[in-house]
Amino acid sequence: MPVSDQNPLVDQLREVHTEALERLGQVSDLTALDGWRVHYLGRKGALTQVIRGIGTLPTAQRPEVGQVSNEVKSALEEAFEAQVGAIKQAKLAKTLSRERVDVTLPGYPVSLGRLHPSTQTLREITAIFGEMGFQVFDSREVESDYYNFELLNIPPYHPARDMWDTFYINERVVLRTHTSPGQIRAMQAFHPDPIRVILPGMCYRYEAITARSEIMFHQVEGLAVGENITMADLKGVLVNFARRMYGAERQVRFRCSHFPFTEPSVEVDMDCIVCNGDGCPLCKQTGWLEILGAGMVHPAVLRNGGYDPERFNGFAFGMGPERIMMQKYGIDDIRYFFSNDLRFLEQFG
Ligand code: DAH
Repeated sequence: MPVSDQNPLVDQLREVHTEALERLGQVSDLTALDGWRVHYLGRKGALTQVIRGIGTLPTAQRPEVGQVSNEVKSALEEAFEAQVGAIKQAKLAKTLSRERVDVTLPGYPVSLGRLHPSTQTLREITAIFGEMGFQVFDSREVESDYYNFELLNIPPYHPARDMWDTFYINERVVLRTHTSPGQIRAMQAFHPDPIRVILPGMCYRYEAITARSEIMFHQVEGLAVGENITMADLKGVLVNFARRMYGAERQVRFRCSHFPFTEPSVEVDMDCIVCNGDGCPLCKQTGWLEILGAGMVHPAVLRNGGYDPERFNGFAFGMGPERIMMQKYGIDDIRYFFSNDLRFLEQFG
């Protein structure tokens, strides 16, 4: 008979071993597993309890208990580690199957931003004039009263100021009410050289906001200065612009008008893009749509820009891209442009 058969502690150790392995097989989460470890391998655990009884054995039997208890201990520790690995593995497999990614599925579409409709129109206008040799000249949005009015031949207290409702920052500084002060800045920058520029930018007016008027809007100013510029040049450039912007078949007419900074002054109309001149609600039955104001640069303005009006002359024009778009796309309320409603903005581009 093997020695262990006569050694009760060794028998107990073997029982603990068997029982521990059996229980371990039933443990399926890490918390329970830790409980198992404390119960069998802990300082006051089942193994330790058995070994405590060693003093009751005859000396000859003691070494065997030590040896077997070490064997059982390392066997249980090994089994414990294996079970930790198995539980973690099972958990991972579960997570992976839940979070599985099907890389063959089509991706979610990324929604692209787009340019604001006003920006698109500004670019279109810039491209057309660019091909006619006009450069873009940037001018400031916060202007002095002097540039916004006086240098453009609009003295203080002159009734012509009623044409522009103005945001005053203080007595001398305004938010520009039109891009025309940029004409003076361009002339001062370029003189005595000839000029061919457009000046796009934001303008501001102290007005009640309605479907037809906003307190902020864009304008594109144009300016040509040289030695032999005539009204025919003005007409040629603007007719060309209207036809490239709205279609080659457009008819354009020039009506006498008045602006303090041009002499003579005109307003430019084209035949209505909806009814081709027959009369409809868009053109208010007139058959014509006004697209811009223009004229030959006033001698006083040329002089203020640094040019000798005896030698130089030029033409200028100003238009509002938002108005142009309203006509082109049948938009009936200017407020859509700056109210940031995506349902409106997404229709362009
Ligand atoms: N500045 C004018 C306005 O805001 C528009 C204008 C008219 C500009 C005639 C011009 C021009 O350059 O020649 O109403």
